[in-house]
Amino acid sequence: MASVDVPVALLGYGTVGSAVNRLLHESADDIERATGHRLRVVKALVRDPEKERAYQPDPEVLTTDFASIIEDKSIALVAEVMGGIEPTGGYVLDLLRAGKPVVSANKQLVAQKGAELFEAASTGGVQLRFEASVCAAIPVIKVLREALVVTNVHRVLGIVNGTTNFILTEMERGASYDEALAEAQSRGFAEADPTDDVSGADAAAKMAILATVAFGSRVTLADVDYEGIQGLEANDVEAAGDMGMTVRLVGAATLVDGRLDVRVQPALVDRQHPLAAVAGAFNAVMLQGDAIREITLEGPGAGGIETASAVVADMVSIIGTTGTGFLQNDACWRSVERLDPGKLRSPFYVRIEVEDRAGVLAHVALRLATHGVSIARLVQKQDNGSATLHIVTHEAPAGDVEAALEEISELEESKSPPAALPVISDRGVPGLGWA
Ligand SMILES: NC(=O)c1ccc[n+]([C@@H]2O[C@H](COP(=O)([O-])OP(=O)(O)OC[C@H]3O[C@@H](n4cnc5c(N)ncnc54)[C@H](OP(=O)(O)O)[C@@H]3O)[C@@H](O)[C@H]2O)c1
Repeated sequence: MASVDVPVALLGYGTVGSAVNRLLHESADDIERATGHRLRVVKALVRDPEKERAYQPDPEVLTTDFASIIEDKSIALVAEVMGGIEPTGGYVLDLLRAGKPVVSANKQLVAQKGAELFEAASTGGVQLRFEASVCAAIPVIKVLREALVVTNVHRVLGIVNGTTNFILTEMERGASYDEALAEAQSRGFAEADPTDDVSGADAAAKMAILATVAFGSRVTLADVDYEGIQGLEANDVEAAGDMGMTVRLVGAATLVDGRLDVRVQPALVDRQHPLAAVAGAFNAVMLQGDAIREITLEGPGAGGIETASAVVADMVSIIGTTGTGFLQNDACWRSVERLDPGKLRSPFYVRIEVEDRAGVLAHVALRLATHGVSIARLVQKQDNGSATLHIVTHEAPAGDVEAALEEISELEESKSPPAALPVISDRGVPGLGWA
């Protein structure tokens, strides 16, 4: 087979961009053997062409002039590895409208501007691929859109943020939240300002993309309820351990009776569950649905070369499927309504701090029972006149648990606002929520 030369461009030449160029060089023979094409980076947009690069490109490659990319007819596709919403979003829209296929690693851009981007791709008659935007090296978008094209996926559970997973794994080993965060920062797993990660916002953007692809209905960042790990206490992690569970920041996108719930929050995961074994900065996504029952993908969810491997794979897929390919660019074919968040059913872990005196347990149990919430397990710990009740409930609607806790917080024996986290305790029955 004769080799076809394919000039490509990058928007951005930082951690991921330079790794993309390295992979394209070092794997050029493998790509050619597989596809008959040699992809060659001819232009890369940067702010400062004089900066030292992790993988030095040919001298004429770096540019600050976007027009030199969009106006170059020989450039067959562009990988956006620049980050941010603007000017990036405008560049990507222009490229798609001009008929250039785009690969993006930018979760915030896809989660916030997906509808506009896909419309532009459709207008331009070209593909927009975005595997690297969710969990870097884990090929979950491709699995959902291609391998599972005839599978009705009901639920996606994910550990989609490596920073928080690293912090929680350290806390499980006895570190405080602050110590674990400092360790994550010193090992390069957390930014100096970790807000996006620890608040759950980063995971929420990824879950919006996963839910959109899994359910074929547009889910934006604004549709995702999220809560981070800042409010977690070391004693929650310890109590989880005592009960054979571990704390993870879990993203869950669930279809319940034709309605959709997408959320990110800390959850207690049974040690037998596959997500409990995901340790350190790793990510995992579990897909549940008709025909497949359950598939779990696990791997590195960040890193230059890991992310670049997904970007290059998308570039190769575009070259291998000309035009829009066999996939419709915009996989949104229906509009699924949101489930009332209070109706999502799950077992819950509840932490209640009360005065250590006779009768208080009965008061708590009564408030729970009034709202139909029954206790499956209870551990009580005493400390200086206080008692902390660590309770795991049977499955109940989130709204009923919340209502019971509101009443419990008003008891005169109550010492601090109670906390509730969902429990993931078995392999799950699609459609039933978290359990
Ligand atoms: N790093 C990861 O592990 C990872 C994982 C998954 C997804 N991603 C995503 O991949 C994308 C890139 O991440 P990264 O870590 O490679 O970022 P990075 O190292 O900061 O690189 C960004 C690149 O974009 C260029 N750039 C930024 N703003 C620009 C502008 N206004 N005009 C021209 N060039 C501009 C920068 O130019 P200069 O070099 O001249 O400053 C730099 O080369 C982001 O969307 C990120 O969320 C990253």
